[in-house]
Amino acid sequence: MCGIVAAAANTNIVPVLVEGLKKLEYRGYDSAGIAVIGSSQIERVRSVGRVAELETASASTQSPTGIAHTRWATHGVPCERNAHPHISGSIAVVHNGIIENYEALRAELSAQGYVFTSDTDTESIAHLVESLLRNEPDLFTAVRLACRRLIGAYAIAVIDQRQPGKIVVAREGSPLLLGVSETGNYAASDASALLQVTRNMVYLENGDLAELTVGGVRITRLDGTPVERPVHVSQLSAAAVELGNYSHYMQKEIFEQPEALANTLEMIGGSKSIQPGMFGAEAGEMLADIDQILILACGTSAHSGQTARYWLESIAGVPCNVEIASEYRYRTSVANPRQLVVAISQSGETADTLAALRHAKSLGQTRTLALCNVPESAIVRESALRFITRAGPEIGVASTKAFTTQLAALFLLTLAVAKAKQRLNAEQEATFIEQLRHLPVAVNKVLDLENDIRDWAQRFADKHHALFLGRGRHYPIALEGALKLKEISYIHAEAYPAGELKHGPLALVDAKMPVISVAPNDELLEKLKSNLQEVRARGGELYVFADGDSEITESDGIHVLRLPEHYGQLSPILHVIPLQLLSYHVALVKGTDVDKPRNLAKSVTVE
Ligand code: AGP
Repeated sequence: MCGIVAAAANTNIVPVLVEGLKKLEYRGYDSAGIAVIGSSQIERVRSVGRVAELETASASTQSPTGIAHTRWATHGVPCERNAHPHISGSIAVVHNGIIENYEALRAELSAQGYVFTSDTDTESIAHLVESLLRNEPDLFTAVRLACRRLIGAYAIAVIDQRQPGKIVVAREGSPLLLGVSETGNYAASDASALLQVTRNMVYLENGDLAELTVGGVRITRLDGTPVERPVHVSQLSAAAVELGNYSHYMQKEIFEQPEALANTLEMIGGSKSIQPGMFGAEAGEMLADIDQILILACGTSAHSGQTARYWLESIAGVPCNVEIASEYRYRTSVANPRQLVVAISQSGETADTLAALRHAKSLGQTRTLALCNVPESAIVRESALRFITRAGPEIGVASTKAFTTQLAALFLLTLAVAKAKQRLNAEQEATFIEQLRHLPVAVNKVLDLENDIRDWAQRFADKHHALFLGRGRHYPIALEGALKLKEISYIHAEAYPAGELKHGPLALVDAKMPVISVAPNDELLEKLKSNLQEVRARGGELYVFADGDSEITESDGIHVLRLPEHYGQLSPILHVIPLQLLSYHVALVKGTDVDKPRNLAKSVTVE
């Protein structure tokens, strides 16, 4: 979604704001802006497009206090008029989130004579704070009173020309943290924006307000009660958010997968058995008592859940349902207090997944587990159990290493549940653990296919549609391949369980329709081969990702790339990698913006 940076320091902070926005640009990138305390009035620079354009436009702006924003449009089209910061009188505001009662506020403030110049919900916050400042001169108090009138999700930062050197920030539902240092104090949507100035981070809780000056920070709750929040020293390495030798973050993140998997699996160490404690202190007891699992997630995270369903039912013997979070939260469902509710999210701040988790809890389902890549996120904090994947920061909008590390974590969960249910003997457990341990090496070998995949990608550049096929636990991998291709190359792609083809989609197949098949050497391979023949018989061009030892051969219209080895239950983790590489290289050939595809944002903190 949108990204916020704010800084109060003893030198010019404009370069810090711009650099911070560059790090947050993955969150939203249709327009950007900064506002600083000027010599006589707020100085604001806004531009449509990327932060690089804002950097040029703000080159001559200087101030020790300011706020900045990169936007992903929700209310109002991307244009300069709708870009943040929004100004009312002497104050300027940036905002991430959605104000649900903005229409009522807009009507009320218009009646008071405020003139709205944008279509955004944020502008109502600016006018609301300005109206409160007429009776209450202290900015901190005015923002606190304003927040009490806001319904929805927000992280905001506010400055007032009449109170230079001061920034007031607040959060409810959208992420915001503080960076503290001797030479200045800062706020941002995530730590990557502030590593340039400090490693000392303070995570604000929902309902917190903070005042930042160069000399210090004070935090209260919305009712004014002072609170202390601990300072965490961020372990995030600056290199983790740099591109290094790669051309795009997506490419970097695809190639980081062996390391990300090794880090995520570190807790199994040299052990031959799974300890449920890796999911939280109460996990052992809880997992033994569950009779069902419900997985809630969106997008790529939902695909990892769909893959895990095959593992959980076949290995652990526990019934499992996977629901798209935005559907579950509004559906009348039958609650089961004994089921484990698993919320999967890379960011931990996806609004639909968070709301679905809360909905599940409101139905009395308190056995919850967050599977997440961001330890301090809302989804983690609101779940009873947790597993943090160690993928490192994922910047590319198209999720890659978050997906494979989620799969690894879900396989660990499968083993922990299977063990709790006494469905796993010591020998099976040791074999699975050994396979997990070997995964990073196996993934490395699959990455060696990149050159061949690059050649294939050339043939997709002029295509408008593509079909992905898979069966069994590789059907969700086909879904993920199709999502990756449409997300970054804008080619319409759909995925089907291969057996379903003849029930309709086969009508689409002709020489212009590439059909990509995930074809591991598993128990369904022979069935899949028949489905591929159905495609070939209609003139469809097949691109098959097979395993080294399978008997699929190249022939006219059937192109085959082989993964080095068949990997049994864990094969989906290997088979998704060529699909990630394919979509990456097709996007390169098409010249799209790989890391920031049109209309999308990295974490979707609105409904
Ligand atoms: C994947 O490439 C997407 N960008 C998207 O589907 C993403 O997985 C989804 O929005 C869920 O995000 P989360 O994992 O942060 O909750």
